[in-house]
Amino acid sequence: MAVTLITNIKQLAGIRTENKLLRGKELVELKVIENAFLIIENGIISSFGEMKNISPSALKIKEQVNASGQLVLPCWCDSHSHIVYAASREEEFVDKIKGMSYAEIAAKGGGILNTAKKLNAASEDELFNAAWKRLEEVSRLGTGAIEIKSGYGLSFEGELKMLRVIKKLKEKSNLSIKTTFLGAHTYPLELKDNHQKYIDSIIHEMLPVIAKEKLADFIDVFCEKGFFSPGETEIICKAGMKYGLKPKLHVNQMNSIGGIETGIKLDAISLDHLETMTDAEIIKLSNSNSIGTLLPTAAFFLRMPFQPARKLIDTNAAIALASDYNPGSSPSGNMNLVIAMSCIQMKMLPEEAINAATINGAYAMEIENETGSITIGKRADLIITKPVSSVSYLPYSFGTNLIDKVLINGNPV
Ligand code: NIG
Ligand code: FE
Repeated sequence: MAVTLITNIKQLAGIRTENKLLRGKELVELKVIENAFLIIENGIISSFGEMKNISPSALKIKEQVNASGQLVLPCWCDSHSHIVYAASREEEFVDKIKGMSYAEIAAKGGGILNTAKKLNAASEDELFNAAWKRLEEVSRLGTGAIEIKSGYGLSFEGELKMLRVIKKLKEKSNLSIKTTFLGAHTYPLELKDNHQKYIDSIIHEMLPVIAKEKLADFIDVFCEKGFFSPGETEIICKAGMKYGLKPKLHVNQMNSIGGIETGIKLDAISLDHLETMTDAEIIKLSNSNSIGTLLPTAAFFLRMPFQPARKLIDTNAAIALASDYNPGSSPSGNMNLVIAMSCIQMKMLPEEAINAATINGAYAMEIENETGSITIGKRADLIITKPVSSVSYLPYSFGTNLIDKVLINGNPV
């Protein structure tokens, strides 16, 4: 049996004896033990406590890590990403700086369709290798669990290719990975005037094969003006739900068109983005079972208003934070930056942001029994920081890499 002891931890943060999706005021409750130890057995957290209470036999464990002056917290659970893609889009980034609008870029063949074209031209191996690098990159930044979406194939072959790449990532990676089918990301160019044909293809061609080959855990739709209406979103989600795929949806990114109501009606696990929210929608979401997943780096990158985190917390919503790592709206999967931005721009307290990016992120992927907190029996998915003064220092000192080591399932990254 592989056993590791971490000693002299300045603060062990994110301890939970009971699993709970955190809402409203609960989000600030980040339990910490000062001067702590933690023991890992076969990749699982087997015990922890104060150094002064450690048993003499535990001190004899051969494999030891001295974390003097360092903090230990659960790895980030990034519940919204699109990391399978073939090429970056920095040319559009520069076009936008020069003043071109999102619509003008899309008209030039840019945006999601640009990525779809490149993805369809790439081989499964090329896509796997590119995504693998991104997984390695984010795991070094402390991400231990991640949700990955399809949605750049926009055809039977392309979507299945993406989903098979994600399946391979799941098989080969130490990270916990969940897959979301986002065939309804936009319409392929050739069907831009025949939406029904594409929706039929999603429902009658793609979904049955995805279900048969068990290629997805969740279903997603980009519910937005010019993309999929709330009615279309509902039809597509219901078709996925027949195969056991629960909805996690892109809503209220640019416009408020009824995505929140539709998502709540479908009992979506999470409703993601939320840059554009009315007060009535904030209250509806707060009174629902759905988690509001905020993607502040996407708001930042597209120069959109930041999500109303404070209002959501103050009306008792359950919120999670995620990176939205993708080539068009958030070409970064750095959850440390997501947390810093949430504190700086959305006025979340550091404890709230850490909880939203760990245990609530785990809930937003339905892996809360596996990871997301320091709990006996959960995977040892741990961030060991460099010596820092407190958890607040992490978002305060934004842009600095404060991570010393990352353990995923007990294994060093
Ligand atoms: O979550 N808004 C929809 N989808 C992505 C962006 C896709 C892209 O531009 O490639 C998002 O922001
Ligand atoms: Fe997204």
